[in-house]
Amino acid sequence: MYKVLKREKIVPNIHLLVIESDAIYKNAQAGEFVVVRADERGERIPLNLVDWDKNSVSMMFMEIGTSTRKFAALKAGDEIATLVGPLGKPTEMTKGKKILCLGGCYGIGALYPVIRAFKEQDNTVVTAIEARSAYLLYWQEKLKKYSDEFYEITRDGTQGLQGHINDFLQEYLRTNAVDLVYVQGCTYLTYLSSETTRPYGIKTIVGLNPIMVDATGMCGVCRVIINGETKFGCVDGPEFDGHQVDWENLLSRRKIYLKEEVYSLSFYECEKYG
Ligand SMILES: Cc1cc2nc3c(=O)[nH]c(=O)nc-3n(C[C@H](O)[C@H](O)[C@H](O)COP(=O)(O)OP(=O)(O)OC[C@H]3O[C@@H](n4cnc5c(N)ncnc54)[C@H](O)[C@@H]3O)c2cc1C
Ligand code: FES
Repeated sequence: MYKVLKREKIVPNIHLLVIESDAIYKNAQAGEFVVVRADERGERIPLNLVDWDKNSVSMMFMEIGTSTRKFAALKAGDEIATLVGPLGKPTEMTKGKKILCLGGCYGIGALYPVIRAFKEQDNTVVTAIEARSAYLLYWQEKLKKYSDEFYEITRDGTQGLQGHINDFLQEYLRTNAVDLVYVQGCTYLTYLSSETTRPYGIKTIVGLNPIMVDATGMCGVCRVIINGETKFGCVDGPEFDGHQVDWENLLSRRKIYLKEEVYSLSFYECEKYG
């Protein structure tokens, strides 16, 4: 069993979860994830690592279904049944490049260790985060610390620039040179961003979130087609070159599992992005 050190609602529907662990931090790298299970009868679910230290690992999760609801009910001192990781391949690091990093919903938290790592490698980091409204944005100060430029985008214009993050991306690329684009968030955001950068030929790394079961490369549920080849999101990813992803396949595979009645409003809006 693994002790919960903290569970905090950061904004409506998104929670920070800090679990005691003295092992994962030794191997954790930006872009990796863990698998957690609330209790013995629960399902294993993958969540990105958003931070780690000698005593703990942190995740940021969106409350959307049975498992994440169980996690949302945890309080400090409770225990969870499973914590496995770090899993997946870490973000490929570059040095001295200008990198535009985009994040939406839980992807805002998932950006944090990645932009920190990019900055530590002397890259110029431009960070842009998006939400429906100002009250759904979070972690601005933490992200600013590792960002050379920082933008907030809200669809209702209550904070920063008004519109969709994809409008911002189009405008930014029209007027600025960028070496790499990095995106964390829902599938629609990663898809749209990749399509926007494609005509510019700017390499675009996206964090994918296919449905996962074992997360060890055994079950094949997380398969995605990359550059015409079948890859497993859990062991070959979860980050891939967005210009090589077969988006039609990914989006149609995800639809198999989508149950509209269990959507939370924000998740629904996220999926219907654009
Ligand atoms: C590598 C990876 C990293 C992830 N990191 C995070 C993270 O940092 N924070 C976070 O909030 N979520 C993350 N996810 C998504 C997270 O795993 C799912 O939201 C979670 O499994 C849903 O569990 P549930 O029981 O609450 O919902 P369920 O009841 O299982 O599902 C509720 C709804 O969410 C959909 N759903 C189920 N699994 C996924 C999935 N893997 N991706 C997207 N939609 C899904 C279902 O189709 C359904 O419509 C990640 C997924 C992957 C593969
Ligand atoms: S989740 Fe089973 S192979 Fe990736």
